[in-house]
Amino acid sequence: MIDDVDWLQRRLAAWYTTNKRDLPWRHTRNPYLIWISEIILQQTQVAQGMDYYRRFVAQFPTVAALAEASQDEVLKAWQGLGYYSRARNLHASAQMVMQRFGGQFPQTYAEVLSLKGVGEYTAAAVCSFAYRLPYATVDGNVYRVLARYFGCDVPIDTTEGKRFFAQLAQTLLDRHRPDVHNQALMEFGALQCTPAAPQCNVCPLCDSCAAWREQRVAALPVKQGKTHVRDRYFYYFLIEVAGKTFVRQRGANDVWQGLYEFPLVEVEEPLSVEQLLTHADVMALVGNAVAQIEYVSPVRKHVLSHQRIFAQCIKLTCDAVSPALAACVATDIGHLDHFPVSRLMERLMTDALS
Ligand code: ADE
Repeated sequence: MIDDVDWLQRRLAAWYTTNKRDLPWRHTRNPYLIWISEIILQQTQVAQGMDYYRRFVAQFPTVAALAEASQDEVLKAWQGLGYYSRARNLHASAQMVMQRFGGQFPQTYAEVLSLKGVGEYTAAAVCSFAYRLPYATVDGNVYRVLARYFGCDVPIDTTEGKRFFAQLAQTLLDRHRPDVHNQALMEFGALQCTPAAPQCNVCPLCDSCAAWREQRVAALPVKQGKTHVRDRYFYYFLIEVAGKTFVRQRGANDVWQGLYEFPLVEVEEPLSVEQLLTHADVMALVGNAVAQIEYVSPVRKHVLSHQRIFAQCIKLTCDAVSPALAACVATDIGHLDHFPVSRLMERLMTDALS
């Protein structure tokens, strides 16, 4: 058992009162709004997330409004935030809330956890902030603060580490004020006990911090594994036929599910434009039409968590629509901005159309 849990709780809460940021989702107990904010903040910095949060809840102010929207509308609102499965899961979960919970946001941990895209962290955040239920939130900030304060070198990206820190966080939780306690611990990690160059000499916990005492602040927390990154080569075709062009919606089991893009040919190795034009998939896109190359974009590198995509956009004009193109969505070139697209597509569209 840890000594002085009360002391730590009080120190954190006092620090939080003085130092907390004024963030829009901290002024509400509405579980729907808190859920939206937590999903946005999962993989997004607060500064960027704030604008998206404001726009998203203005456009979809209630769970019913979100459930009734089309997937394209939801993805469009999410455009540029990345990790688009978050938006698809929000949409599906809003529909679950309408159907399974009669339109009322679920009020127990197990029910919140049953929503798509909601893991233990998010369920604990929603339940503690909205309902003051006693569940500790364990995010990256919490791992860092606890690993340093207690001088723990159990790797945080292992099953053992996750279990260890979850139990520790739950032991430290202030069960009378789980909302303030959780926010305080995460805010402390975000602002004071930062990943690089924390200001330990002005830290209110430094006297009892094991990492500070043992000069191991920079070495904690410990992570075990490196993720494998694979390279992919994407060639996009902006094909113009009589003022129209063609887009497709991306399917399941790959990045950007549900977003739109120009017809894509993916290859194993980078190709020259000449090599590309003899590729069977490219020949199928052109079909029997007479094609003219109008523009070739620079290679654009797009880095995701597990892959690096090297992409180029080739603009062609054709005098007929091939069967492969006829299977796509035809659109006026001026209407391309109505479709939800990835950041990469946005960039290639700017390249090819400006
Ligand atoms: N990151 C995740 N949740 C957060 C919250 N509620 N406030 C600030 N940053 C966060």
